Amino acid sequence: MERYIKRLNAAAPLLNGLFYGFSMASGYNTIIEGKARIAVPRYRGKDVSSRMPVFYNPVMKSNRDITLLLMAVAAKLYGMKKWRIADPFAATGIRGIRMLRELGRGSIEMLKMNDYSAAAVALIKKNLKLNKIKTGNIAVENTEANKFLLNNKGFNYVDIDPFGYPGIFLDAAVKKTGYKGILAVTATDTSALAGTAVAAGMRKYLATPLKNSFMHETGIRVLIRLVQLVGAMHEKALLPVFSYYKEHYIRAFFMCRTGAHRVDELLGKHKELLYCNSCCEKRIKQQNDDEKCGCGKQMAKAGPLWAGNLFDKRLASEMAAAAGKNDNVDEKTKTFLKVVAGEAANEDKCGIGFYAIEDICEKHGIGQQPKTAEMIKRLRQKGYSASATHCTTTGVKTNATLAAVVAATQQKGL
Ligand SMILES: C[S@@+](CC[C@H](N)C(=O)[O-])C[C@H]1O[C@@H](n2cnc3c(N)ncnc32)[C@H](O)[C@@H]1O
Ligand SMILES: [Zn+2]
Repeated sequence: MERYIKRLNAAAPLLNGLFYGFSMASGYNTIIEGKARIAVPRYRGKDVSSRMPVFYNPVMKSNRDITLLLMAVAAKLYGMKKWRIADPFAATGIRGIRMLRELGRGSIEMLKMNDYSAAAVALIKKNLKLNKIKTGNIAVENTEANKFLLNNKGFNYVDIDPFGYPGIFLDAAVKKTGYKGILAVTATDTSALAGTAVAAGMRKYLATPLKNSFMHETGIRVLIRLVQLVGAMHEKALLPVFSYYKEHYIRAFFMCRTGAHRVDELLGKHKELLYCNSCCEKRIKQQNDDEKCGCGKQMAKAGPLWAGNLFDKRLASEMAAAAGKNDNVDEKTKTFLKVVAGEAANEDKCGIGFYAIEDICEKHGIGQQPKTAEMIKRLRQKGYSASATHCTTTGVKTNATLAAVVAATQQKGL
């Protein structure tokens, strides 16, 4: 009998695991990310996917690093006293647990994690124990994300990080993001945002995407507009403070303010963009615009999209500086944040999109493609603003005219 009970006890985790749809016999791997120790289920599938028993993507470490840097700097810059955090798509709980470990428990008034997967919730609880985190101001819920948000009072940080399209969670997320709170929104359906799936883009984002060399920047702006439209319905002005494209996703952080005038101001910056595939000319569509390029060709149209800034330049600069001093942040992410800081400092003058140097060479018959740093130097020497873009390594954001960019590419005098 005793032997039978012993065997039953030994089998319990396995049975428990099967109940949750994966085999705990294969067990967990314990990984260290930032200051957190996290158990992630061993997965026999080939790639990271939504079919994993509990989702964990190591590639998204940089996404979580950026989130933590942003929260630390925003607390100082925007005067946030204590965080009230909603993590409706918590998966292993890694994001919330890292917030507790790295922002300091004292800076967090309340953290609510949620996932509709029972296996995920069981793992979050295990991971809280693994990190010796006692509950109290921490809660873990097991429901649908919209329900979770709507059943709670309100937060000053809400992180929307689902699989794919975030649109169906925006209404509840906006409703529960308080005044001067931060709303973070991730979209991984980049084909709809960046123009490979045009019909899906129009249906889900209410805007025409544009597939070209700066399609990911256009995608960021299309996502921002959708979030702002939902904000407008609640008379909340959602100003993007840090918006980017990286790996396979687009993510934007918004500062939430109330007031009809603020909302109207943001909506006034929803524009359409014209782009010429023949010569790379781009401009914001004006009233009664004939949509013809100076080269005589019909221009392609994208949007409506957010035509304002993607970044708060102070936030971007301080995040890059903080990353530089943080050993948890890898070199690639540090470099990425430096590029973003340079782009942010320059964007007031340079507007939407950028010039892909390879396109300029191809469309204008230029044989030798200059390096990005060289192009930036040449344009600055001519008195223009110019910077790199985080979207690609061969793009230049500048207030120079197309003619000036072509001349700089050829290294001709103007
Ligand atoms: C992309 S993963 C989140 C990853 C996590 N934020 C991280 O940093 O590791 C999405 C998670 O949300 C959960 N999820 C997806 N749709 C949901 C919904 N409608 N309500 C609640 N949870 C959902 C999934 O079970 C999955 O664990
Ligand atoms: Zn043209």
